[in-house]
Amino acid sequence: AEGDPEAGEKVFKKCKACHAVGEDAKNKVGPALNGIVGATAGQVEGFKYSDAMIEAGAGGLIWDEETLSAYLAKPKDVVPGTKMSFAGLKKEEDQADVIAYLKGF
Ligand code: HEM
Repeated sequence: AEGDPEAGEKVFKKCKACHAVGEDAKNKVGPALNGIVGATAGQVEGFKYSDAMIEAGAGGLIWDEETLSAYLAKPKDVVPGTKMSFAGLKKEEDQADVIAYLKGF
């Protein structure tokens, strides 16, 4: 289902402790997420990823709606060894909404 970017902006509050988006976005605990939808995993300039995320990207992991939804639901199921310690977005609607929000950057 198509997500709602406005609802996704609210969902993104759960991400903001570690991630920024927008013009002045910098890497924090996690990488800045501009342009992340459609990108290869582990490629944000200047961010120190886990080896697991680097390997996932080298193995061809691309952040499309399917892989992002799965990663946001259970990060370690998609990238075993990822250092993103986040409990996960269980609701499919929240996943779709935050992805719709991220598409705007
Ligand atoms: C990585 C999204 C919450 C810390 C990532 C990546 C995405 C993402 C797409 C992969 C980036 C890439 O491949 O360049 C999100 C979203 C969140 C969220 C949408 C909220 C729903 C969090 C939180 C934290 C966090 C709360 C900190 C407690 C990290 C870290 C990485 C990462 C450290 C790098 C992982 C690694 O190198 O293995 N996040 N994240 N994220 N995130 Fe999050």
